Amino acid sequence: MSNPTSFDRSIKIAPSILAADFANFGQEIEAVEAQGADWIHVDVMDGHFVPNITFGPATCKAIRPHIKTVMDVHLMIAPVDPFIDAFADAGADYITAHLEAGPHIHRTLQAIRGAGAKAGLALNPGTPVEDMAYLLDMVDLVCIMTVNPGFGGQKFIHSQVEKIRTLRAMIGDRPIHIEIDGGVDPTTAPLVAAAGADVLVAGSAAFKGGSVQNPAPYGTNIAAIRKAAEGAA
Ligand code: DX5
Ligand code: ZN
Repeated sequence: MSNPTSFDRSIKIAPSILAADFANFGQEIEAVEAQGADWIHVDVMDGHFVPNITFGPATCKAIRPHIKTVMDVHLMIAPVDPFIDAFADAGADYITAHLEAGPHIHRTLQAIRGAGAKAGLALNPGTPVEDMAYLLDMVDLVCIMTVNPGFGGQKFIHSQVEKIRTLRAMIGDRPIHIEIDGGVDPTTAPLVAAAGADVLVAGSAAFKGGSVQNPAPYGTNIAAIRKAAEGAA
């Protein structure tokens, strides 16, 4: 089980509750953790930065007691800054904001760490990784989006693999996680692991075929993604 305060580059599988039963988040989280999830990925969408709406800080606070591993909150919202304290108060371990969400991402990252959370920075598929060159010492995690954010179940965008490789070289020895979000499954996991990723978000590929009543497929799915990634890392 991962500890939010320790750092290593081992492969971590982070199921996204975007693909879980929205009426049953607590039990879904407990089931997926019991089946081997390392982190829990929580997708917050505002219908403005992305063309979909999920939930906000109150839901994050309500699910927090059900998470024993790491609460990884991905904010697909703009503006971000007015809501950072609320997500930190909700108990997020990592708060990830998008580089594209506003003109002052440097300030946003300062505010996330200032609120006591680990700072994550997400990049949309069209954003060059070089755009974060001056932010490297302000982040604990970089999330490379391998789909356009907003929906689960989309097709992996292969052009992003080279971007992961470039980012891995830029990071060097810094303790920064490389997280991949979108279209991760046992066929794409080896590509991103070989390029240097360590946190693999999986929505549909983690939850497919299972349920709270029948959680075993969650375990099979997570193990298949992990095995494929570890074989290539
Ligand atoms: C997409 C979200 C992802 C999503 C991934 O905007 O940020 O976390 O849940 O879903 P899959 O794994 O189905 O592509
Ligand atoms: Zn996400």
